[in-house]
Amino acid sequence: MSALHFPENFRWGTATAAYQIEGAARDDGRGPSIWDTFSRTPGKVYQGHTGDVACDHYHRYADDVELMAGLGIQTYRFSVSWPRVQPDGTGPVNPRGLDFYDRLVDALLARGIDPMVTLYHWDLPQTLQDRGGWAARETAEHFADYAAAVHGRLGDRVDSWTTLNEPWCSAYLGYGNGVHAPGIADPGAAFTAVHHLLLGHGLAARALHAAGAGSVGITLNPADVRPADPDSAADAAAVRLVDGLHNRIFLDPLFRAAYPEDVLEHVARIVPPAFLRDGDEKVIATPIDLLGVNYYAPLYVAGRPDGAGGGGGAFPGTDGAVEFLPPAGPLTDMGWMIEPAGLTRLLERLATDYPGVPLMITENGAAFPDHAAPPAGPDQPATEGAGGVVDTDRIAYLDGHLRAAHEAIARGVDLRGYLVWSLLDNFEWAEGFRKRFGIVHVDYRTQRRTPKASAHWYHQVISRNGL
Ligand code: FCB
Repeated sequence: MSALHFPENFRWGTATAAYQIEGAARDDGRGPSIWDTFSRTPGKVYQGHTGDVACDHYHRYADDVELMAGLGIQTYRFSVSWPRVQPDGTGPVNPRGLDFYDRLVDALLARGIDPMVTLYHWDLPQTLQDRGGWAARETAEHFADYAAAVHGRLGDRVDSWTTLNEPWCSAYLGYGNGVHAPGIADPGAAFTAVHHLLLGHGLAARALHAAGAGSVGITLNPADVRPADPDSAADAAAVRLVDGLHNRIFLDPLFRAAYPEDVLEHVARIVPPAFLRDGDEKVIATPIDLLGVNYYAPLYVAGRPDGAGGGGGAFPGTDGAVEFLPPAGPLTDMGWMIEPAGLTRLLERLATDYPGVPLMITENGAAFPDHAAPPAGPDQPATEGAGGVVDTDRIAYLDGHLRAAHEAIARGVDLRGYLVWSLLDNFEWAEGFRKRFGIVHVDYRTQRRTPKASAHWYHQVISRNGL
């Protein structure tokens, strides 16, 4: 294939999240989060795995920063654990928790890596969940206080701030179908949580701007929603409904200062929107500097006027009316479709419908069962051969999606950078440690890190600024 070059100042990096890699769940005054509780609830996480130790990054961050420097990483997106900073989610900060991020930021800067801080990647302090979590309005206000506290400590060195990671997951998987923490399955609570997450984002964005933050953004996982049959009116209606619940319910208030009418009508059939108060939409629409986009796979839907569609708790109110098509191959180890063209379509759509905000791919990557290269000896577990992991499937996935991103840039999309999910194999939420997304292999018995072939390949991509 032909060589492709990315724009001059394009940023290359990797992403992780606190609960997925840090471990040290009880160190230095960290309070419990909803993921500590959830992972201990029988049947919720694969084989009862927890983030208690994870990649022990809390103690090994210095080596991990060296590893990144060796790979030429320019931007490192990580998240701050709210219960490390405020063990109860409110009140006094825990300086020892902030000390960790202080050390991490200094280590990154010393190696010329730009820190990009996400303030909330799903690990809500359990104390706040006990008071209602994101279904309670006060959580949004506490979030803004916490954001200001973290900025107060790191803001002299960190320029790039992201409020929330994928509020769709927090709301719909956390409160809609209960597949993620806090494990609540209540359609009304899911929509209430959407609003309070967005409100929290807006309040935090204001606080961060007021404190002088350079760049403030939010990361969404907008979906490329496709009809099963492009000629079917019923499928087009299903696309419109799912697009409303997945995309426009977040994007419209953020960039147009109002929820879409059709979405509000849908929500009102499930829960009285008393949570929406005058002025909220204005707060949510506080101007931001960057929209982070996490993309993994497209979503194909069909309308079922006969009411026989599966629908789903992850999309409250779609039960019966919508069929979510089983993903068609080729698939990743998550069972997700591999369709790079969906990324081009999605980026173009965002740039067209919500112009004026620069975009960054803040997550893209794939889980595959990693096979060791020969000559792994008979006594070496399959993924830990002496030759390392030759993950050609992951390289192909990343290559395809980078070409798709480049195509979007060629069509005029203002795309500023690309971050691979993930630097390290890690705790993949309800899937525990069995799904490996890293470009660096982690042996969880020894905590040994081994860059996979994809890490070496990515290093080349970065040094060439292209493919
Ligand atoms: C995203 C999450 C991230 C990781 C990837 C695979 O939805 O933001 O933490 O789990 O999926």
